[in-house]
Amino acid sequence: MIAIHIILTTLICLSVETNTTENDENKFQKLCLDQEFCDDCLQAHKSCEWCYQEDFHDRRCNIAFSKCDPNKIERNSQKSMSIGKNEQFSVIPEQASAEQMREIIQIKPQSVDLTLRKGEAVTFNFTYKPASNYPLDLYYLGDLSASMEHNLEILKTLGNNLKTSLTDLTKNYKLAYGSFMDKTDMPFYFTDPESLNNPCYSLLKKCEKGYLFRHRLNFTDNTNKFSEVVNNSTITANVDDLDGALDAILQILVCGKKIGWSSFSRKIIILPTDSLLHTAGDGKLVGAVLKPTEKCMLDETGNHAEPLKYDYPSLEQITILMQQKKVNIIFAVKDGPKFKYYESLSKSLLTDHSFVTKLDPNSGNILQVIEEGYYNFAEQVNFYINTTNHPNIKVEFEADCENKGRFNRTSSCYGIKDKPVNFRVTLTLEKHPEYSERGQMDTLFVEEKNIAERLEVSISYAGICKCVNKSKVEHCENGEIDGCGDCICKQGWKGKNCTEECDETTVSCRKLENGKYSQLCSENGVCECGKCICKDSYYQGKYCEFECPLYKNQICGGPAQGECIEGKCICESGYVGETCSCSLSTIDCTFDGTVCSKRGTCECNRCKCQEGFFGNYCESNRENNNTICETYDSPVEDFVVGKNITDNNAEENHSRIKIFEQKDLKESNCGEICSTVIFDGSSRCEVNFCYYAYNESIYLPIVKKCFMTAGFMGTIGGALIALFTFLAGIAIILMVKWKRDRADRLEYERLIKEQGNFRGENPFYKSPVTIYLNPMRGREQNN
Ligand SMILES: *[C@@H]1O[C@H](CO)[C@@H](O)[C@H](O)[C@H]1NC(C)=O
Ligand SMILES: *[C@@H]1O[C@H](CO)[C@@H](O)[C@H](O)[C@H]1NC(C)=O
Ligand SMILES: *[C@@H]1O[C@H](CO)[C@@H](O)[C@H](O)[C@H]1NC(C)=O
Ligand SMILES: *[C@@H]1O[C@H](CO)[C@@H](O)[C@H](O)[C@H]1NC(C)=O
Ligand SMILES: *[C@@H]1O[C@H](CO)[C@@H](O)[C@H](O)[C@H]1NC(C)=O
Ligand SMILES: *[C@@H]1O[C@H](CO)[C@@H](O)[C@H](O)[C@H]1NC(C)=O
Ligand SMILES: *[C@@H]1O[C@H](CO)[C@@H](O)[C@H](O)[C@H]1NC(C)=O
Ligand SMILES: *[C@@H]1O[C@H](CO)[C@@H](O)[C@H](O)[C@H]1NC(C)=O
Repeated sequence: MIAIHIILTTLICLSVETNTTENDENKFQKLCLDQEFCDDCLQAHKSCEWCYQEDFHDRRCNIAFSKCDPNKIERNSQKSMSIGKNEQFSVIPEQASAEQMREIIQIKPQSVDLTLRKGEAVTFNFTYKPASNYPLDLYYLGDLSASMEHNLEILKTLGNNLKTSLTDLTKNYKLAYGSFMDKTDMPFYFTDPESLNNPCYSLLKKCEKGYLFRHRLNFTDNTNKFSEVVNNSTITANVDDLDGALDAILQILVCGKKIGWSSFSRKIIILPTDSLLHTAGDGKLVGAVLKPTEKCMLDETGNHAEPLKYDYPSLEQITILMQQKKVNIIFAVKDGPKFKYYESLSKSLLTDHSFVTKLDPNSGNILQVIEEGYYNFAEQVNFYINTTNHPNIKVEFEADCENKGRFNRTSSCYGIKDKPVNFRVTLTLEKHPEYSERGQMDTLFVEEKNIAERLEVSISYAGICKCVNKSKVEHCENGEIDGCGDCICKQGWKGKNCTEECDETTVSCRKLENGKYSQLCSENGVCECGKCICKDSYYQGKYCEFECPLYKNQICGGPAQGECIEGKCICESGYVGETCSCSLSTIDCTFDGTVCSKRGTCECNRCKCQEGFFGNYCESNRENNNTICETYDSPVEDFVVGKNITDNNAEENHSRIKIFEQKDLKESNCGEICSTVIFDGSSRCEVNFCYYAYNESIYLPIVKKCFMTAGFMGTIGGALIALFTFLAGIAIILMVKWKRDRADRLEYERLIKEQGNFRGENPFYKSPVTIYLNPMRGREQNN
């Protein structure tokens, strides 16, 4: 009796167990059964598999097959994560060699391999451990204006203290030195002969002839050399209270090779200053109008060679470069309104790349400032995703910044000292990439923002059939069955089953023309069994002798526009032209009801502008006044300063203009980017916007960055204040007038182009969640 009882219980247990799995299986099976294609099948659920046996007459997508030959099943793969390279953290020796620096490891592991399934999150961990004695490159950018004389004097007396101080930070440090003043022309400099040679002439002092930027010492670990060069430098002066520091920073950033930044180091510029910054637009006052290029412009003596040709860089340009070059900056500023200016600038634009700290009135705390700034950067860690190909993957970061096992959703930690920090990265595939090649892998890097540390993530995808639509052949006597079930024929045989005997002669693959035979398949295909198989659909004809016209890499502009027949395009309605590239529509020429701004004609749905006009709608002229941009300047300004929007064409108070703020213009579907500078109370706002018309409304997405302006800082003292105020007044009036800020616009466009077609890392916006989107991959690359 007891035995029976046990058996019964076992039976019941067993049946319960099979029931639950069966229920689950039933549920999954439903997902599989309806799938008609192999890829869809494998993607429907991880349990679905595909039978490619040819004479299989049941549903091909299922979770278990009773009749399918097990060798003819396309198996599914699961999501997975495996650690690749996983070497130990480095211990950096003192006086590390270049080779040793290259091999520094602060992230563990160094690579992971993932298999992603759509919609299923895969998580991996990594640890960042800051190594002590990590190399430091410190560029001392001296403000040698007369008012900073005390700073230079202090610097000259540092001597051994500097060495001791730096050694405390890291044993592997290097120093470089340069100084800046301003663009050497009126109104920033007096140009009478006395003042030109001695800008301190009116102050009854002697000082060095003016210059914009002078790089004085390449990176070196020799602090004595540094002291010597500093000892040799003297103060100089200029007129207004704004200086050309941004020009100096630009050169320091782009002259990496010349001045000797290392590849593997923490890179910091320290700028002790008591003046404000000239930024993009101010150069117009001395006739320097060209947008600063990113070419190194230092001559052999270290001087800026073109001080009066290029405008000042914009803060945006500097921010982007600092991000690219992984350089940080410490602003050491005396307390007061200028300190607030730098704080505001640091917060709004140079986030994570700058640090503002107080400099004593006599600069006595300069070593503490260096130390404080260094630790600010060394004790933070920020990761982001860097990828050149962009699969549709959502990436989420979590960090345990305090090393207490509590993860927060962030990719940055601050104040970490030298503790290791654990990160968790979760990747979710949102959409399968379009494949040019089956079995393709993608790579992305989890990269640190300020130093050359990164982790390589190799990604392969589950749910991609190797054999796609193939089904297995039965008979393959005259050939061999390959991994995907194809019968590959031996010579002399052809057909799916290799049952047809094959014509070995090749004469029928050659075209007879004027008594001469052409090349085999016109060299555009291979001759198989007396028939030409063309290399691809671009070649047509019995002898592959026709070439189809291409437009944007698509035959006849793609199936929607035309079809190729014997090398000629037959266009669909609405398209004309040899390659069917010309659309008869005018929709892309029309903005706000006007075709090509009435300054051109719409040809093939593209504006052909009259001489002197440019842009998608001929809205710009040679001076780059974009009329559409101009039209919407005032509504945008109203919006930014919080007034009711002026719309001249508004009907009964119903504005057609829709303005809204966005993090990023890349998300909008618009062409040219407009820029304007707006003064709102005490802020200067750099505003970028763009425009598109939709459903009788005009949409204007805007992105704005505001920071406190120099011109509104009322309490600047000194001998030249009256003159400065006057000049600053002119500058501001001119800046307001000269709203169309071409330099910034081009820069913004470049930024967008560089970042491609995906919402990637944006210097002004940081989120622990990033999504990489490129639905057009493959196609896009061909264009
Ligand atoms: C990641 O770390 C957590 C603890 O921090 C651990 O529980 C988990 O197993 C780790 N995951 C992997 C994939 O190593
Ligand atoms: C820095 O090094 C470069 C060569 O790398 C040299 O041409 C230049 O003159 C040096 N500059 C200074 C200021 O020593
Ligand atoms: C700096 O120059 C002065 C003379 O101008 C000299 O006495 C002093 O020793 C120099 N200091 C260094 C560190 O070279
Ligand atoms: C400093 O200046 C003196 C004289 O002007 C010169 O001989 C010396 O080479 C300079 N030293 C450095 C390091 O530039
Ligand atoms: C991304 O990585 C590439 C090299 O793989 C590098 O050249 C590029 O500068 C990186 N981009 C950013 C924004 O860090
Ligand atoms: C993590 O988040 C919690 C609340 O979600 C917060 O209280 C805590 O301060 C955060 N920790 C860190 C290190 O940011
Ligand atoms: C598989 O075959 C179907 C119809 O036969 C076709 O629509 C589909 O594009 C094919 N898939 C691939 C990847 O070739
Ligand atoms: C190949 O063989 C299968 C039977 O295995 C047959 O059904 C099919 O028609 C054959 N195909 C050709 C092209 O001969």
